[in-house]
Amino acid sequence: MIDDLIEIAKEAGEIVREGYGQTFKVEFKTGDNNLVTEIDKKSEHKIIDFIQKKYPSHSILAEERGELKNDSEYLWVIDPLDGTTNFAHGLPIFSVSIGLQKNGNTIAGVVYDVMRNIIYSAEENAGAFANDKKIKVSQSDSISKSLLVTGFPYNVKENPEKAFERFEVMTRNSRAVRRLGSAAIDFCYVAEGVFEGFWEVHLQPWDICAGKLLVEEAGGLVTDFNGSRIEIFSKRILASNKLVHTEMIEMLNIG
Ligand code: IPD
Ligand code: CA
Ligand code: CA
Repeated sequence: MIDDLIEIAKEAGEIVREGYGQTFKVEFKTGDNNLVTEIDKKSEHKIIDFIQKKYPSHSILAEERGELKNDSEYLWVIDPLDGTTNFAHGLPIFSVSIGLQKNGNTIAGVVYDVMRNIIYSAEENAGAFANDKKIKVSQSDSISKSLLVTGFPYNVKENPEKAFERFEVMTRNSRAVRRLGSAAIDFCYVAEGVFEGFWEVHLQPWDICAGKLLVEEAGGLVTDFNGSRIEIFSKRILASNKLVHTEMIEMLNIG
């Protein structure tokens, strides 16, 4: 099945790459900083079409189309373009993210880093890969020597969940904090040891599903800010190389 995820992520990625830098229609979702382009929709259409043809009985949860529910133990969780703001502004950091769950458990995940042409893939209990190379989380064990990453939800101006205060604490205590604009790529970089940790609030299931499995299969840990297990519907996520996890939890819990 992982081959199907890879195939369709590449096909959707091709649509995204071809649209990059071209003129495309842009609409606004919940405010003037929450965009959706016609390329998001075309990419999603391609992925849904593939699944419905090959696995007509499966359920689908896709960012733009919503839930397409069937009576199935399988659920495909799709972000057809993660990093739409980057895409629309000409910043080449965006991805296609596809996760597959069976009975609520993620069994496969693929994130396609479109402009670097890298397929990140993972299957449950089978490791994580960047193209064909096995990847592992970093071995750094202290926050002061760590490069971290975060992101902000579209209602960031309201400072949800003390997002700015948490950003400040992490910035003061780590080597540096980055903000890339594609949560799925943030997870991949934790999985391959570029970042020691990633945290964010108010992510959506399609931002989390594939990336969480990638980090876990690369030897990392993904939890809530208090260390408890999370599902793809959780609103606070902390992903790390495991070694800095406790230290990150202490810093994120600022009351
Ligand atoms: C967004 C990106 C971004 C994160 C936002 C997400 P989208 O997804 O993953 O990094 O900070 O919270 O909504 O809208 O580009 O698919
Ligand atoms: Ca997203
Ligand atoms: Ca998206």
